[in-house]
Amino acid sequence: MRIDIITVLPELLQSPLNYSILKRAQDKNLVEIVVHNLRDYSLDKHRKVDDYPFGGEAGMVMKIEPVDRVITQLKSEREYDEVIFTTPDGEQFDQPMANQLSMAGNLIILCGHYKGIDYRIREHFITKEVTIGDYVLTGGELAAAIMCDAIVRLIPGAIGDEQSALSDSFQDNLLAPPVYTRPAEYKGWRVPDVLLSGHQRKIDEWKHEQSLERTRRLRPDLLK
Ligand code: ADE
Repeated sequence: MRIDIITVLPELLQSPLNYSILKRAQDKNLVEIVVHNLRDYSLDKHRKVDDYPFGGEAGMVMKIEPVDRVITQLKSEREYDEVIFTTPDGEQFDQPMANQLSMAGNLIILCGHYKGIDYRIREHFITKEVTIGDYVLTGGELAAAIMCDAIVRLIPGAIGDEQSALSDSFQDNLLAPPVYTRPAEYKGWRVPDVLLSGHQRKIDEWKHEQSLERTRRLRPDLLK
């Protein structure tokens, strides 16, 4: 899998994309993540990528030409499953979308910025508009990093124990059960006895009951 991220702030993506599972998945060649600085595709001598909006609103708008140049170049090199734009008015990113995108071959993620982007970009280049939640971020970079993290950890081999991605919260629309480690008792607070019993069937039943109980209590919407 390859993910191309287009941004005006490549520095903002360096740390989230280069530690832990995302780093390991890239080192193992399970995914290639390439960050492109949109300014490198500006024709302007000042490397300008934004301009004033027609109709005189406040704020700057991302220009179409640099975006066209980078996307057209990438598409000439390989086929892409989706050209994603991060924006608060997009479709909600969730676990099913992460699962689906983790099966893609190649993805482009264009990070939104400024007041917005020239709407023709959205009409002619973008195939999927995605929000990570109902709040407004300064730019789409953090949203892109979150999406990459959620997608890449699902690629087989990215996580040491492959079971562990499948047992994540939300994978079966249930929250995960509580987990504990040693010591079995700390300041009088005991780990549930069943987990120490060695009785695997009872442990599995307990975990499932806990998942159901936590989902009913904390996220009843998931059970509908
Ligand atoms: N850009 C600004 N806010 C955003 C959000 N909530 N999700 C995705 N991209 C964004």
